[in-house]
Amino acid sequence: MCGIIGYVGPRPQRDVLLGGLKRLEYRGYDSAGLAVQSGERLRIVKAAGKIRELEARSADLDLSGTVGIGHTRWATHGVPNDINAHPHTGRVGRIALVHNGIIENYQTLRTLLEKRGNVFRTETDTEVLAHLVEEYLENGHDHPLEEAVRLALLEVEGAYGIAVIDSHSPGRLVAARRGSPLVLGIGEGEFFVGSDASAFAEYTREIIYLNDDEMAILGPDGYLVKNLENVELSPEVQRLEWELDRIEKGGFEHFMLKEIHEQPETLVDAMRGRVNPETGEVKLGGLQDVQGLLARCDRVIISACGTSWHAALIGERLIEEFARIPVEVEYASEFRYADPVFTPGTVVFVISQSGETADTLAALRLAREQEVPVLGIVNVVGSTIARETLAGVYIHAGPEIGVASTKAFTSQVTVLSQIAVLMGRLRGTLDTTRAREVLSEIVHLPAKVRQILEQADGMRDFATEFSGVGNALYLGRGYNFPVALEGALKLKEISYIHAEGYPAAEMKHGPIALIDQDMPVVVLAPGDSVYDKVVSNIEEIRARRGRVYAVATEDDDRIAALADRVVYIPRTLDCFYPLLAVVPLQLLAYHMAVQRGCDVDQPRNLAKSVTVE
Ligand code: G6P
Repeated sequence: MCGIIGYVGPRPQRDVLLGGLKRLEYRGYDSAGLAVQSGERLRIVKAAGKIRELEARSADLDLSGTVGIGHTRWATHGVPNDINAHPHTGRVGRIALVHNGIIENYQTLRTLLEKRGNVFRTETDTEVLAHLVEEYLENGHDHPLEEAVRLALLEVEGAYGIAVIDSHSPGRLVAARRGSPLVLGIGEGEFFVGSDASAFAEYTREIIYLNDDEMAILGPDGYLVKNLENVELSPEVQRLEWELDRIEKGGFEHFMLKEIHEQPETLVDAMRGRVNPETGEVKLGGLQDVQGLLARCDRVIISACGTSWHAALIGERLIEEFARIPVEVEYASEFRYADPVFTPGTVVFVISQSGETADTLAALRLAREQEVPVLGIVNVVGSTIARETLAGVYIHAGPEIGVASTKAFTSQVTVLSQIAVLMGRLRGTLDTTRAREVLSEIVHLPAKVRQILEQADGMRDFATEFSGVGNALYLGRGYNFPVALEGALKLKEISYIHAEGYPAAEMKHGPIALIDQDMPVVVLAPGDSVYDKVVSNIEEIRARRGRVYAVATEDDDRIAALADRVVYIPRTLDCFYPLLAVVPLQLLAYHMAVQRGCDVDQPRNLAKSVTVE
């Protein structure tokens, strides 16, 4: 979802801004723009469509200057076109402003501003903010830029991450946030602002995370962070942990494919130093201080969105199996408005790859307001959810750029398995022998995923056979029902084919009506405790001439005789089949999307980090 880059310093503005925007492309966008301040003027260039449009449009312009801002827009108010693209200006075009988030009272503000003679040029909510800032600079107010921004922000309701430059304030950039992430980059004689650090990671590793209701003033003489009450703050400068190659494609055609292939390593990273197969113990540093809570709680709620919600469904089974506590899984967007009942022994987990998803953050805050302990399972270090949870575990998957989540999902499930074992041990519901068995298997999973990836090319042929379909059904039972949901979601997200995930037995209560020779059905049929039941479900599909594409355990001749095509995965424990079975489904969706000519890494209408509700 929208991306911001800002730069104060001597490098060529166009290079830094366009480079930053390209790094942010993965977030999802539909138009882009930039503004550079040079002398007493602002140059603004905007273009609907991809960054290459903006690149072409700005190629011959003089964009020299010492401060600039850039933006990728994901439309919320107003269609994606040149005019609605950011940056926006006020009445006299003195400032340029880029904004992520939504100004909720924009209608009221717009009416007021129009009464005062401001003429609106766009359909966006953002433009009100540009007019407000300019009013505080002009009309006899003559406030400094930072004060004008601060006063304007006091009038708006909603969420924002903004960056503003002013033609009368040479080399100065003001940024502020509430509910939409912003990170500052502190270089040698230069400063950056980005909606995430990947926008400028090639120039500096020193960063400051802005908190809600904080603003930063960057200029030739240094940087200053204060809150919206005008109190100066001393934020901690942190170091970016990951290496730059994590945000490069490294020889793969798409980020998604690279991330699928990274899974053997990311799984190791998700369990490094945490599991001990000899003793059956799990050590999760981030949960050390809340072990008492995990031992005592009598109910768990897990809240998340999208793929993270699918991981939560697997977490539900894992925690129920190992720790014998009732677990509920809630869509964060529903949970936040559901007036949930929190009992005294409830612990809430929130799961988020980005750590910025607006609904998940709201669910977290809702539980916290009611004094319920909230723990996080997050990928992006230092993200808002990571900072606001009481405690938590990082999944350490590294930057995930492909909009369709892959490696984050498997790392989330790996961490959930460890949490389930830890809770089982703390509560005495999981004995040492079983814990050893589970942990001895978890450490073999990276090699088993690698084994599946060795046949990755075979999935291309699988996809060829599959291509041309307009619908698909994914079925799974037990631990693999959420995998069916995830497989269907992957296909929808990147190849735009309608797909549904269903519990295999539930098929007969509706979807079976859809089955005929044109309906491909992907069935997850590993050799687990519900294997025979799944085989019966396959028979039911065959009896109606449905096409069966199965994921089965190696050497399973029974499935081979029943299915039109089988992809094999290695044998593992029931609870770990999701981690293996999802990999062929990720590859299937990937190859389908490539064969259909879809934009794999930036699928239409989707955003990587959904910072609006
Ligand atoms: C978006 C992404 C999904 C992701 C979901 C939740 O829809 O495209 O891949 O699963 O948000 O995001 P989170 O960062 O909270 O895991």
